[in-house]
Amino acid sequence: MTEPVISVRGLSVRYRTREKPVHALDDVSFDLTPGRVLALVGESGSGKSTAAMSITRLLPNEAEVLGGTVMFDGVDLLGLDDHQLRSIRGRRISMIFQDPVAGLNPVIPIGDQVAEALTSHLAMHKKDAKKQAIAIMREVGLSDPERVAKAYPFQLSGGMCQRVMIGIATALNPEVIIADEPTSALDVTVQAQILHQLDVLRRQRGTAILLITHDFGVVAQLADEVAVMYAGRVIERGTTDEMMGRPLHPYTHALLATLPRLDGSGGPLHAIPGHPPEMNAAAEHCPFIPRCTKVMNVCRADPAPPLMRRDGGNDHPVACYNPIWQAEPADA
Ligand SMILES: Nc1ncnc2c1ncn2[C@@H]1O[C@H](COP(=O)(O)OP(=O)(O)OP(=O)(O)O)[C@@H](O)[C@H]1O
Ligand code: SF4
Ligand SMILES: [Mg+2]
Repeated sequence: MTEPVISVRGLSVRYRTREKPVHALDDVSFDLTPGRVLALVGESGSGKSTAAMSITRLLPNEAEVLGGTVMFDGVDLLGLDDHQLRSIRGRRISMIFQDPVAGLNPVIPIGDQVAEALTSHLAMHKKDAKKQAIAIMREVGLSDPERVAKAYPFQLSGGMCQRVMIGIATALNPEVIIADEPTSALDVTVQAQILHQLDVLRRQRGTAILLITHDFGVVAQLADEVAVMYAGRVIERGTTDEMMGRPLHPYTHALLATLPRLDGSGGPLHAIPGHPPEMNAAAEHCPFIPRCTKVMNVCRADPAPPLMRRDGGNDHPVACYNPIWQAEPADA
């Protein structure tokens, strides 16, 4: 089995606010493995972006890491200073965001920005970097890259800007890409092309990818593994086949039941009945209790269930005292 390139363990993060604090992550653990895509899914506010920003150390000032580690190449990223981070972020761990235009500098032509990434991270000579920038833009499917190189971000479509961002990531050849909803602002055709680019990267370069998405269609297309988040916790984790074919947690069942396609293979998530809890403190009991159709006395009496293999270790990890074992009709 391939060793993980990133291991997140027991990560807990809280945001200070003027009112009550928000416990955005509660004891979160997962691994990213070379050449594999882990999809992080869950409702809005479940902590997906906070997890991504913890890895890339882009948490805002009001965020406080209460505990945990993010191990990368033998070091805990949470313990690095800004200088040490600069040699890793962008170069060895790249990020792709939902809004690619925001990730680019509005007043610098695209070609210069790509070239700048090459000169600063790869110590490439300026003239070579400009040539290489054109080649990169061609490689990610931008037609007429000479013209694109002279354009400013506002003159390009969102899809074109996202290709530029992926081009930069490709050129730097990072070990890890963190992609936070990279295609949700794009139309379906462009989305498929961008996902294809990511797929090429992980297959040809062995890049490990963390893909945050609301869309199970995207999960089915690209992800090898899926971690479902609820109220700041990973509540189920497994291969894409396990998660889509045999979900165990009542929340995962409910999510899959909202999909428009009966085989569960496509479409964005829709709301399930009820609301996620306020996350003002670390959960004392299972945070899904108010919305759960399988709740038992133990759920209200015991601490929040840990993520673990149940059923004698035969199944994938789930954080639930009463998982759905059979292919029961989804009862949410
Ligand atoms: N800067 C902040 N200050 C206070 N609370 C925050 C801040 N950023 C996020 N939160 C809260 O932390 C929780 C987790 O937010 P996060 O953005 O990680 O969720 P998400 O799963 O990425 O949601 P979405 O799908 O909407 O992007 C939410 O309750 C959110 O309101
Ligand atoms: S632990 Fe209990 S309340 Fe929580 S999801 Fe499982 S059955 Fe439902
Ligand atoms: Mg988010």
